[in-house]
Amino acid sequence: MAVELHALTISGVTRETSDCSSFELSVPTGLAAQFQYRAGQHLTFSLPCEGAEISRCYSLSSCPELDEPMEIAVKRVEGGRASNWMNDRLRVGDSIRASVPQGRFVLDPDTRSGRPLFLFAGGSGITPIISLLKSALATTKRPISMLYANRDRESIIYGAQLDRLVASHPGRVELRHHLDCDRGHLRASDVRAMIHDADIAEFYLCGPEPFMELIERTLVASGAHEERIHIERFVSPADRERKGEAEIETFDAPEAFSLWLEGRSRTVPYIRGKTLLECAQAVGLRPAHSCQSGFCGSCMAHVKTGKVHMRTHEALSDKDVARGVTLLCQSVPAAAEPLEVDGDSTSFRAASAVRSSFGKRASQLAAGAVFAFMVAGTLILRLVH
Ligand SMILES: Cc1cc2nc3c(=O)[nH]c(=O)nc-3n(C[C@H](O)[C@H](O)[C@H](O)COP(=O)(O)OP(=O)(O)OC[C@H]3O[C@@H](n4cnc5c(N)ncnc54)[C@H](O)[C@@H]3O)c2cc1C
Ligand code: FES
Repeated sequence: MAVELHALTISGVTRETSDCSSFELSVPTGLAAQFQYRAGQHLTFSLPCEGAEISRCYSLSSCPELDEPMEIAVKRVEGGRASNWMNDRLRVGDSIRASVPQGRFVLDPDTRSGRPLFLFAGGSGITPIISLLKSALATTKRPISMLYANRDRESIIYGAQLDRLVASHPGRVELRHHLDCDRGHLRASDVRAMIHDADIAEFYLCGPEPFMELIERTLVASGAHEERIHIERFVSPADRERKGEAEIETFDAPEAFSLWLEGRSRTVPYIRGKTLLECAQAVGLRPAHSCQSGFCGSCMAHVKTGKVHMRTHEALSDKDVARGVTLLCQSVPAAAEPLEVDGDSTSFRAASAVRSSFGKRASQLAAGAVFAFMVAGTLILRLVH
């Protein structure tokens, strides 16, 4: 099933740096409800580059709680198709096709105070991070520390906006800029120097892969809990002409699999050749998803029992794969044994994990109550007779 796209209008273009522009997006009134979003989410765009339609994700840098116009910022990638096309071609008044907002790189709505929040951005990774920063400032009292790494001062995106946010929230944000031109690449000691209360804090990382690897490793070594380290990977899909021949899977598969969604387990018949996402959609379920190509991470789930094969998994690190994280849009069963997949709770997606564990507890309690009621009913009937 293709991603559903809607026409949005470019209502503003700002040159943020020599190689990055931001684009304000205007949503038709009739679609306002569908385009409600949470800080940290992204849109998947379909772009007409060089005669072909290509898909790319861009995170929203605006903040929903501040009623700002929806905005993305796109940094040129050397040799990149979409990022250069958007910077060169998009003008105010142009129409652009995008999916509704998706993504799990969001704040846990239950963490309103206390737990320190650490934000790490590198280069264009600032887009979801500044959205999270604005949202946390507007809706919580959490202490916030942020590190933003760039090549040099001229590469800093949203520099003036960051300065304004810090100045207008005295004592709330500790913002550090790291410039490679002054101090070389970020080191573990730079990360250690800024963190405190690692065992209770939450961390959000978005930037180049080596930057995030260094930070994640340092955080874990400093006592941070892996499930509180949230990572957004900015990757491109393999465009049609870059892909090889589609692989035909010849795995054994169970007749059906179990899928946890919104705190309930559903039995989904497996349709050979289809992904777990497609099978779930075929029975009317709506697991979160966006790109359907394995690069945005919106459809992450956790394999609890059984085996799956992923056709591609750019959105996941090797570590994610090793701990059983899977992408529903890319997974097919890889063995006949029973397969149980948790679409709510990937260990590092706090918001959905909270909902899901609550739902599961609720359904366990409900099941217990029904059982107790049946036992009591049987006893009463025996006594009556
Ligand atoms: C959830 C998410 C959110 C994102 N948010 C943002 C954001 O807010 N801002 C932002 O700027 N980016 C963001 N990105 C990244 C963005 O989606 C694109 O990946 C990025 O703009 C590069 O796309 P491109 O088409 O310009 O480059 P591509 O054409 O995909 O090229 C990428 C690299 O691959 C190389 N390449 C090109 N052709 C080939 C080939 N045939 N074989 C091998 N290599 C090749 C290019 O030279 C280039 O170095 C996000 C990504 C994700 C998944
Ligand atoms: S929907 Fe994007 S990775 Fe599955």
